[in-house]
Amino acid sequence: MRETVEISLQVNERAQSLRIEPRETLADVLRDRLGLTGTKVSCDAQVCGACTVLVDGRTVSACTFLAVDADGGAVRTVEGLARDGVLTPLQQAFIDEAAFQCGFCTPGMLMAATALLEENPHPTEDEVKEGLDGNLCRCTGYAPIVAAVLRAAEAGR
Ligand code: FES
Ligand code: FES
Repeated sequence: MRETVEISLQVNERAQSLRIEPRETLADVLRDRLGLTGTKVSCDAQVCGACTVLVDGRTVSACTFLAVDADGGAVRTVEGLARDGVLTPLQQAFIDEAAFQCGFCTPGMLMAATALLEENPHPTEDEVKEGLDGNLCRCTGYAPIVAAVLRAAEAGR
């Protein structure tokens, strides 16, 4: 029989207690156990940033971050951004700037940019580029994404 452990997480401000295998990644737990499929898995090797979520306010690659290492922590995913159907200024700016096409990178971009703007509410263009340098996009050419983050910063996040 496989070893399992009990973990407790706050996920988007809701308490969750789960019995999992120690080898399970945070992405697996979010997607397969909690149904939070907004977090995407693309490279599965901590390269592309598609799976970026926040653990205690810091970005992690959920594809390689073990869920046991988030035990006792607060996890935020893309599902936790909008409240009562109201988008955050950052999400709205992604729409206004047409900052996505296929959208596969978008949840990770949004979470990385959320962390960036929480730490630095008024970033320069270079700081935005630096803040998103772990997130790859194959569609947009990046310019609209950077513009969206700058627009959200102007709007006060
Ligand atoms: S899927 Fe996690 S970094 Fe690419
Ligand atoms: S919008 Fe397609 S990968 Fe970014």
